[in-house]
Amino acid sequence: MLKLRPYKPNDSAHVVGWITNEEAFRLWCADRFENYPLSPEEFNKMYENKPNDLFGMIAEDNGDIIGHFFVQKLQQDRYKFGLIIVDNTKRGKGYGKRMLLTAFNYAKTTLKAKSITLSVFDTNEAAYKCYLNLGFKETGNYITHTFFGKEHKYIELEYTPAFFKEESLAKNLASRVCTSPKSPTSGDLSAKLTERAFK
Ligand SMILES: CC(C)(COP(=O)(O)OP(=O)(O)OC[C@H]1O[C@@H](n2cnc3c(N)ncnc32)[C@H](O)[C@@H]1OP(=O)(O)O)[C@@H](O)C(=O)NCCC(=O)NCCS
Repeated sequence: MLKLRPYKPNDSAHVVGWITNEEAFRLWCADRFENYPLSPEEFNKMYENKPNDLFGMIAEDNGDIIGHFFVQKLQQDRYKFGLIIVDNTKRGKGYGKRMLLTAFNYAKTTLKAKSITLSVFDTNEAAYKCYLNLGFKETGNYITHTFFGKEHKYIELEYTPAFFKEESLAKNLASRVCTSPKSPTSGDLSAKLTERAFK
């Protein structure tokens, strides 16, 4: 059974171990981290220095750590997901889709989110197709990055509000969602979530 829980510093070795080459590293993190290979300590520094409204999540399947992403509150009921990654030995088996569906259900029921955005390189075929497959739409915003001698469009995608009205979403989830009963409204969102969530 797939469930979400808050990110912990000793998860970092798992996450950085899933990145097996520099191009995949850049496609995953854009310019969020400078140096490859990324060390577990550098990855944790990102969370130590994070803004209050950003928190990490880990997906586990029957106790095995299989994925990671962060959630950031942008404004009111608008949220952003980032650094989405699935264990490199478990890709293409539906875990990414299940992790994100579980995350969207969490965002809908607990955070009362009306919109989720993320950004993806057009050259990251598996990720780009995964997000479109889940119902993300392009917002029209993008920036261009150049790395490894090639231009990559970093495209912003958004879940349409209609998605969050779909009462059928929860029924379609094959996995359990661990949510807290209340939505945080102000203050240190990550601390509140760590206290209450994922029980
Ligand atoms: C993006 C990622 C999280 C997807 O996770 P995953 O477990 O491999 O994806 P799933 O098996 O759930 O597949 C979901 C959908 O993605 C698409 N997809 C997945 N792998 C694909 C591939 N190799 N080529 C094309 N489309 C692919 C398909 O549409 C698939 O749906 P389908 O099985 O109904 O056809 C994973 O590939 C990953 O960790 N990539 C490296 C990190 C990264 O670049 N993250 C994105 C940052 S923006």
